[in-house]
Amino acid sequence: MRTKIVAGNWKMNKTFEEANGLTSEVLGMVNDEVQGNVKVVLCVPFPYLIPTRNLLGNHPRISVGAQNCSEHASGAFTGEVSAPMLKSMNIPYVILGHSERRQYFGEGGALLAKKVDIALANGLTPIYCCGELLEVRERNEHEALVQKQVEESLFHLSAETLQKVVIAYEPVWAIGTGKTASAQQAQDMHAIIRKHIASKYGQAVAESISILYGGSVNAANAKELFACADVDGGLVGGASLKSREFTDIAKAVNS
Ligand code: 13P
Repeated sequence: MRTKIVAGNWKMNKTFEEANGLTSEVLGMVNDEVQGNVKVVLCVPFPYLIPTRNLLGNHPRISVGAQNCSEHASGAFTGEVSAPMLKSMNIPYVILGHSERRQYFGEGGALLAKKVDIALANGLTPIYCCGELLEVRERNEHEALVQKQVEESLFHLSAETLQKVVIAYEPVWAIGTGKTASAQQAQDMHAIIRKHIASKYGQAVAESISILYGGSVNAANAKELFACADVDGGLVGGASLKSREFTDIAKAVNS
């Protein structure tokens, strides 16, 4: 059975005090209310990684993740944070290739392949994001584009290594817009991603990879999205900044 994951991407939000408050609230609510086969991940800004990890302790179901890492291991790269640093801090997850990194920081396939490699080499689980702009969907090129994004940054991996990656499909037109992909649109794309993986790595490998949906997930739409056969949870932005709503989204996985 694939691992179900609900990851919160806090992006560049919350002061330190607010962040600690949010983590404590989520911890309490998830402990009390979330049962079963779901992993909760809090992807917080870099400075909050250690305090968040410390607040969570060695929690069996809630862990912490970074939102990016450098493609380099170390050196003169002012302002960057490396995968070996994250490893040394016991951070298990890292988001890579988020559309905001692609759009505002010029990240693309070849660079992201290097980031995926260095993350995996350091024992981190990459949450690799893909997804199309609205104009691409309107030209009916979204399937080809997402296949290409998956291919160019992941298809150099061995089958064994690929199985350590989590994929997140995040249509850019649904991010922060309140406009969610319909459950059918999400399911269709997730099935296409899985089929594309199967074409290179075989069905068993494709079936083992968790594919999350992201883009205006909230407590009201999570249940329908997560009920789709190929949707294995969510990568949640805005709604992850509210403990009640985020916990309700995590609960929607098993409901
Ligand atoms: P929203 O949930 O705010 O649309 O953001 C989605 C996202 O970008 C998660 O990585």
